[in-house]
Amino acid sequence: ESYDMGAHDTYMHKEISEQADAVDRALRGRIDDRFSTVHLGGLNLDAREARGVRRVKILGCGTSYHAGQIGAQMIEELARIPSDAEPASEFRYRNPVVDPDTLYVAVSQSGETYDVLAAVQELKRKGARVLGLVNVVGSAIARETDGGIYVHAGPEVCVVSTKCFTNMVVSFALLALHLGRIRDLSVADGKRIIEGLRRLPEQITEILENEAEIKKLAELYADAKSMMFIGRVRGYPVAREASLKLKEVSYIHAEAYPASELKHGPLALIEPAMPTVAIVPDDDLLEKNRAAMEEIKARSGRILAVAHAEQEKADHTIVVPKNEPELDPILMGIPLQLLAYHTALTLGRDIDKPRNLAKSVTVE
Ligand code: G6P
Repeated sequence: ESYDMGAHDTYMHKEISEQADAVDRALRGRIDDRFSTVHLGGLNLDAREARGVRRVKILGCGTSYHAGQIGAQMIEELARIPSDAEPASEFRYRNPVVDPDTLYVAVSQSGETYDVLAAVQELKRKGARVLGLVNVVGSAIARETDGGIYVHAGPEVCVVSTKCFTNMVVSFALLALHLGRIRDLSVADGKRIIEGLRRLPEQITEILENEAEIKKLAELYADAKSMMFIGRVRGYPVAREASLKLKEVSYIHAEAYPASELKHGPLALIEPAMPTVAIVPDDDLLEKNRAAMEEIKARSGRILAVAHAEQEKADHTIVVPKNEPELDPILMGIPLQLLAYHTALTLGRDIDKPRNLAKSVTVE
């Protein structure tokens, strides 16, 4: 991949289109079929150390923080280690307890974001073990951490992150699988996740082939003054990232909420001028998500669902291919990158350089 835009009108479009190859690169050479696990050469964490990890704390900013939220869920699910993600700047300023049994993971596309770097330096000063999950090879965060995973997304130029986000989430899946397989994830589950990972590039291509339909939907919803994004558990960070993407690139105000929280306040906002994007995976929360859509419909809200099958309650559904439930968040965000892109295009925005934003914030 190069900096040459080729036939694409923007870097954002180019980078969205490159995701199948990017994910393939993140997997290449890392899968170990013999032991149903993955090799992460740069991790610098031996099996004994990994078994001693009692918590995982992931730190990042913006889109990388959202990748970390999905990552934390993957690590909890697959490795059964309590995990969470926090914005690096919040972490820095609240004098956190630095615990020797916690594994810290700093996640950053550029590897230069000041808030993340400062958090890493503070952690190191206090003796913590910090890994990096970084795109730019040899960047400051890659150098300051004890080891880590390069996400191999290739150069990302557009200010808003797309392919790097996807590769970060894939890299978290690799980390979760690796930690799981030296703790108590079964061979069968390891195999299941590996097979799921291998299916991703083809499924991403399938999603991207649906662009013409997503473009039409973007044109239909581009008149919204504000949009609500909802999801539950695995779908919630997907909703947050999709809402951020829309805000950044189209300047349409958007809110992201867990679907379960609608009734505790945001339902008051629902009316035809405030459409909802609902993340509705075919998992054990499907019925709950359907109920939330019903509540929105009852208040005359328009609904665009991202789901594994057509949703009766929604006005429109973007159907995405199904993978393993733990890996579905990787795929469900991709059509919403295209939705944000085509909304911004319809509204004539400066897609690669949204106002007031920088690709990497290297100052406080
Ligand atoms: C900036 C960019 C975001 C990005 C964030 C973190 O705010 O506009 O797109 O997610 O920085 O950047 P990083 O390079 O650390 O991932």
